[in-house]
Amino acid sequence: MNVQETRVACRDAFAELASLACIHDPYPFMRWLREHDPVHRAASGLFLLSRHADIDWALKATGDALRGPAPGELARYFPRAATSLSLNLLASTLAMKEPPTHTRLRRLISRDFTTRQIDNLRPSIARIVAARLDGMAPALERGEAVDLHWEFALALPMLVFAELFGMPQNDMFGLVAGIGAILEGLSPHASDPELAAADAASARMQAYFNDLIQCKRNDPRHDIVSMLVGAHDDDADTLSDAELISMLWGMLLGGFATTAATIDHAVLAMLAYPGQRHWLQGDAVGVKAFVEEVLRYEAPAMFSSIPRIAQRDVELGGVVIPKNADVRVLIAAGNRDPDAFSNPDRFDPARFYGTAPGVSVDGKMMLSFGHGIHFCLGAQLARVQLAESLPRIQARFPTLVLAEQPSREPSAFLRTFRALPVRLRAPRRG
Ligand code: HEM
Repeated sequence: MNVQETRVACRDAFAELASLACIHDPYPFMRWLREHDPVHRAASGLFLLSRHADIDWALKATGDALRGPAPGELARYFPRAATSLSLNLLASTLAMKEPPTHTRLRRLISRDFTTRQIDNLRPSIARIVAARLDGMAPALERGEAVDLHWEFALALPMLVFAELFGMPQNDMFGLVAGIGAILEGLSPHASDPELAAADAASARMQAYFNDLIQCKRNDPRHDIVSMLVGAHDDDADTLSDAELISMLWGMLLGGFATTAATIDHAVLAMLAYPGQRHWLQGDAVGVKAFVEEVLRYEAPAMFSSIPRIAQRDVELGGVVIPKNADVRVLIAAGNRDPDAFSNPDRFDPARFYGTAPGVSVDGKMMLSFGHGIHFCLGAQLARVQLAESLPRIQARFPTLVLAEQPSREPSAFLRTFRALPVRLRAPRRG
């Protein structure tokens, strides 16, 4: 990336983030933005915040300063929602709701989607991890390269979602095949054919979840869908089928590629910083520190996808954000802000050793799961998958190395991969 040119003028940070240079390494540009244009106004009129303190403020801001679009305003932010199923589903997800609707939906899902419920999945997750590693072992031991992105990073969250939702694995395989098309279609720059492809995939997902809900209603099991459709003695309120479908759709869309990307980045960190692998060989506190640092170092959802609308003129760092402006936060830049994390470009799990989840020893919040009322619902699920995977990968394949440079997805929003080829280091002769 030519930081010099950027310094002269940055008309649109979103366009810059989509450039090949930023897909490869967005952090020099993010540093420039934080230092020179931290309250950036893009060509589209969107504002983008890149300092940790400003992002933290925006994520926690309540009603009078910033809030999501009111139901009547949705058409302004999603003009094609009237005719597009995907945009319609997106507009009805938990992430797009504001209190009091958000409070009600979050309460209903949190009744069953608890930390205990997720912790109960640990043995199943450990079993899936071991089976995937067993599956990779023969090819690796023959000296062949294996694509860890496909064979492990994507497979694990897919199989965990199947377990969580109480679905056959093959059915989940069919559903997640459509996620790429849906994510493409949800981009504000998607063409009509891309949106049509997204809608076809969303329609398949919607029909499947509709059948799944009826099936769980007739024959409940110990999965989250059965719990969410089930009656609660102490609570007459319940999720409607439409609310439940958009909840499941939103969980898959928000939780699948992000978790896979974090697994990829964690493995890359193990390979790039062998001196830090010891965190994965000791106790759970060390593993947690490594996981939190991976999340800080490489935020997979680089900026927030939720529109936050200024309710009045807001002054931030000497810049006036006008009433009704759409404000986004560049989470990945906040995580690398030296005012929050010392030596931010250094991968250093020690900064999260022995602390509360996501909080550094200096009391600063790692922003990758957001903050405030929209704090990621699946944070614990993602953390457990990482904590169950990384020490096992390290123990099973201690001589893992890159077989070739990984190839990245050309996405400005999601920092993820197309392939991550690995192999075992050849034993030294003699
Ligand atoms: C490493 C993996 C993940 C990352 C980095 C991530 C990131 C995020 C972020 C940044 C937000 C807040 C967005 C904002 O306020 O603008 C969010 C919200 C959300 N996430 Fe995640 N997520 C991950 C995994 C998951 C998983 C596994 C699930 C599914 C169970 C999930 C479901 C959700 C939902 C439903 C919300 C909306 C919550 C609300 O509005 O109350 N996420 N996530």
